[in-house]
Amino acid sequence: MTRLLVTGGAGFIGSNFVHHVIENTDAHVTVLDKLTYAGNRASLAGLPDDRVRFVQGDIADAELVDSLFAEVDAVVHYAAESHNDNSLHDPRPFLDTNIVGTYTLLEAARRHQRRFHHISTDEVYGDLELDDPQRFTESTPYNPSSPYSSTKAGSDLLVRAWVRSFGVHATISNCSNNYGPYQHVEKFIPRQITNVLRGIRPKLYGAGRNVRDWIHADDHSSAVLAILEKGVIGETYLIGADGERDNRSVVELILAEMGQPADAYDLVADRAGHDLRYAIDSTKLRTELGWAPRYGDFAAGLAATIAWYRDNEDWWAPSKDATESFYAARGQ
Ligand code: NAD
Ligand code: DAU
Repeated sequence: MTRLLVTGGAGFIGSNFVHHVIENTDAHVTVLDKLTYAGNRASLAGLPDDRVRFVQGDIADAELVDSLFAEVDAVVHYAAESHNDNSLHDPRPFLDTNIVGTYTLLEAARRHQRRFHHISTDEVYGDLELDDPQRFTESTPYNPSSPYSSTKAGSDLLVRAWVRSFGVHATISNCSNNYGPYQHVEKFIPRQITNVLRGIRPKLYGAGRNVRDWIHADDHSSAVLAILEKGVIGETYLIGADGERDNRSVVELILAEMGQPADAYDLVADRAGHDLRYAIDSTKLRTELGWAPRYGDFAAGLAATIAWYRDNEDWWAPSKDATESFYAARGQ
C-alpha cells in the first residue's frame, strides 16, 4: 500500500493520520478534502511535498473521486460532517456528505477494485447506562441517537452492503472519542482549553455526568494502519483505549493543569438527546491484530494537548469567535 488516498485529511483525525503515515511508513498520500469550516490546510503544514499532495474537492463529486481512485492503491475515508451539535441545528450536510459522499466513494471502490477502509464512530451503538457492566462490541446492535450518528450508521451499512453485494474490499472501524492536536474548537476538550486561554469559564452540558471513552488521535491512527495492513476484508473493528471519564472530571483536570480553581466552570443547557455513556471493548483489535495504545496516561496526553493549544493560537483563533457565537445563541 504505497499510495493512499485519505479523505478528510485536513480535519482533526485525518490530519493526525497523515502525520502518522508520513512518520511511520514509506507511503505517498493524496488528501481529498472539501475544506469545510472544519478543514484546515495548516494542519498539514510541514509535511514533505514530495509525499503529500492536497486536492480540494467534495467526496460526492463522482468525476473527481473516480480520477483520484485510479491513482492509488487504497483509500482511508475520514471525511464527514462530524459534530453532533451542528447536526441538531442543520442535518442536511450530514446526509449529503456522510451518506451520499460515502456512496460515491463506494461506487468508485467498486469500479476500481480498491482496498477501502471506512472510519466510523462508537455512536452508531447508541448509549449505555452509567452502571452497565457491558461495553460496546462488534456485535452490539445499531441504535444511533442523533442526525450525525444516524448518518454514520447509514454509511456503515452502505459499506457492509457493498462488501456483500459487490465484493468491495472494505473494512470498517468504529472508534471512541479522540483528543489531541488539530481538533476544532467546537469540540469538548479544545473548547474548554481555549475558553480558559481566553478567560471564559468552561461550559458543561447538563449536570456534566455524561461519560466518554477517550483515546489519543495518534493511537487511533496506529489502529487504522494495523487494520489496513492486517485486517480481514468485510470485518468491523472497534477502536478504544479504556479511557472512560465523565465530562466534569475532564474539565476539572483541564482547570487543574491550567492553574484555575476546580469549580471555575458553568453548567449550561443540555444537548437534545444527549447520549449518556460510550464505552468500547477493543478485545478483537488487540487479540486478532496485536494492536495496543501508546498513550495510556490520559492526564499526560491532556497536558500535552493543552500545551499544543497554548503554543498554536494562530491555528485555532480564527474559528473561536464564530464557534462561541453559535453556542451562545443556544444558551451553551
Ligand atoms: P472533522 O470535522 O475535524 O474533519 C472532517 C474533515 O472532512 C474536514 O477536513 C472537512 O473539510 C472534510 N469534509 C467534510 N465534508 C467533506 C466533503 N463532502 N468532501 C470532502 N471533505 C469533506 O472530523 P474528525 O473529528 O476528524 O472526524 C473524522 C472522522 O472520524 C469522521 O468520519 C468521524 O465520524 C470519525 N470519528 C470521529 C471521532 C472523534 O472523536 N472526533 C471518533 C470516532 C470517529
Ligand atoms: O464517540 C465518538 C464521537 O465523539 C465522534 O463520532 C464525533 O465525531 C465526535 O464529535 C465526538 O462526539 P461527542 O458528541 O461525544 O463529542 P463532543 O466533543 O461534542 O462532546 C463530548 C461530550 O462533552 C459530550 O457529552 C457533550 C459534552 N460537551 C460538549 C461541548 C462542546 C459539554 O459538556 N460542553 C461542551 O461545550
